[in-house]
Amino acid sequence: MSLPVRLFFVPYWESTKQYLIMKEPKQMSVSAIQNGTVIDHVPAKNLFKVIQILSLDRIENQITFGTNLESKKLGKKAIIKISGKFFEDDDINRIALVAPDAKLNIIKDYEVVEKKVVEVPDTIVGIAKCMNPKCITNFESVTTRFKVVSKKNVALRCHYCEKITNQENLQII
Ligand code: CTP
Ligand code: ZN
Repeated sequence: MSLPVRLFFVPYWESTKQYLIMKEPKQMSVSAIQNGTVIDHVPAKNLFKVIQILSLDRIENQITFGTNLESKKLGKKAIIKISGKFFEDDDINRIALVAPDAKLNIIKDYEVVEKKVVEVPDTIVGIAKCMNPKCITNFESVTTRFKVVSKKNVALRCHYCEKITNQENLQII
């Protein structure tokens, strides 16, 4: 009963301020970092593929991540925070196959100084497996190599057998 009575006496601008204060605190699911890269909007199911592609399991930097976080766009998303690491565009674009909506935030002194999106490269070396079981890359130790023939619905043409590997049969190696 006390709430409506109280609101009646609180001036309009005061109640708005209170509302804003209540809405304001933005909780971070994973702690802020001082310097480094935050990779946001990774589909949760591909978190470990991103870790693999960027070889994050082999670097010494401090890494924190959260997964199965709510995302309006992706359903469940993952976020990766790598302290003291700044990627070359060519390196980061390698994750576009598995995290096409990933957003990169470059952090310096706790501030976001740059935001980047990933872009599917024109050629893919390694990373993906050729879907053709008869392809030389599937029975000899030859690194896979593809020309990207479609970036939106990813389609890769094998350099060796010319067969197309697409999003549905894409396997990360
Ligand atoms: N972040 C961080 N450490 C900081 C600053 C930011 O880990 N010192 C992270 C935030 O948790 C967030 C991302 O970097 O996941 C981007 O930060 P910010 O631009 O402040 O967040 P949003 O406005 O929510 O970004 P966007 O809407 O572009 O995803
Ligand atoms: Zn092939």
